[in-house]
Amino acid sequence: MKILKLRSGGEMPIVGYGTWTASGDVLENALNEALKSGYRHIDTAYLYKNECTIGKVLNEWISSGRVTRDDLFVVTKLPAYATRPEDVEKYLKESLQNLGLNYVDMYLIHSPFGLFAKDQTDLDTMVIDYDTDHLAIWKVMEKQVDCGRTKAIGLSNFNAKQVQKLLDYSRIKPDNLQVEHHIYLQQTELVDFCRDNGIVVTAYSTLGTKDGKKRLNLNWSKGVPEILENEVVLRVASKHGKTPAQIVLRFTIQKGVVVIPKSTNSQRLVENIQIFDFELDAQDVEDLERQDVGDKGRLWWFTIFAGVKDHPEYPFPKEI
Ligand SMILES: NC(=O)c1ccc[n+]([C@@H]2O[C@H](COP(=O)([O-])OP(=O)(O)OC[C@H]3O[C@@H](n4cnc5c(N)ncnc54)[C@H](OP(=O)(O)O)[C@@H]3O)[C@@H](O)[C@H]2O)c1
Repeated sequence: MKILKLRSGGEMPIVGYGTWTASGDVLENALNEALKSGYRHIDTAYLYKNECTIGKVLNEWISSGRVTRDDLFVVTKLPAYATRPEDVEKYLKESLQNLGLNYVDMYLIHSPFGLFAKDQTDLDTMVIDYDTDHLAIWKVMEKQVDCGRTKAIGLSNFNAKQVQKLLDYSRIKPDNLQVEHHIYLQQTELVDFCRDNGIVVTAYSTLGTKDGKKRLNLNWSKGVPEILENEVVLRVASKHGKTPAQIVLRFTIQKGVVVIPKSTNSQRLVENIQIFDFELDAQDVEDLERQDVGDKGRLWWFTIFAGVKDHPEYPFPKEI
């Protein structure tokens, strides 16, 4: 497994296991399979409500000696409805308790905009908190590193301008930016910006989040086929004797971007980590790069939160 070195000294495996939408016994079985197949980087979030299941499995693996805590790279996130300085410590402590761990390897601010939630399980009860203050939140994030609750800190769904502000004013720099990233939304400028500033980029929804799309009714504004049914992806897959998922994941890691595909299917999750025994050539890369349609390829506008586009820290263009 290829490892990316973080500025803070940590080592992040370039393929991780995504867990959004997975829970209960299905997740428990799948995570066991994932660990057997070699996944050591696990991506979760307070919001996913699955940290307890993940913690149970990880602790079974640690206590049976199959892995050490040092072998694992665990990422979790501060939820949008806690994007306030006074909430950071409380939510991280709760995540650690859920996970049954003393520390995580990476703690991310899940989104640049803050919300208030009357009911955390009901998106419709969430309203905009217009006073989100990134610098104030970041100071408490830094304190979490000082206290040893997390080894590193980072961001998710922030744009370059928002990241730059934290780079300019922080004592501990963000180590990681997790964003939507796939063949239709390749985010080249943002990825280059992060690379130039020592920030590792993690791609989410690289396979096109089929179950997520259904669950939240997400859609591309440009009429494009599902990523795994894209003609170029299928052609490159047949050329290399690989699956469409392996092609788009390989394309992403060849760019030095971390991938965290989610699968609860024991065959597919194995497939998703077996991407180190082949290489895409310059022509494949060029053909796949041509699939980028910029913001028209964005699935995640977060308009599931009513009024989010009016938040002063809304990270994406309001019109495309
Ligand atoms: N920071 C954020 O705001 C944010 C947002 C979204 C996601 N994430 C993270 O990123 C992870 C990945 O993104 P995602 O869950 O949105 O979507 P994804 O990984 O792009 O796609 C998951 C979907 O692809 C299917 N799939 C998996 N492997 C496959 C394969 N080899 N062939 C065909 N289909 C396959 C899965 O079904 P099966 O399970 O049935 O295989 C599932 O329907 C999440 O789980 C989460 O950890 C973060």
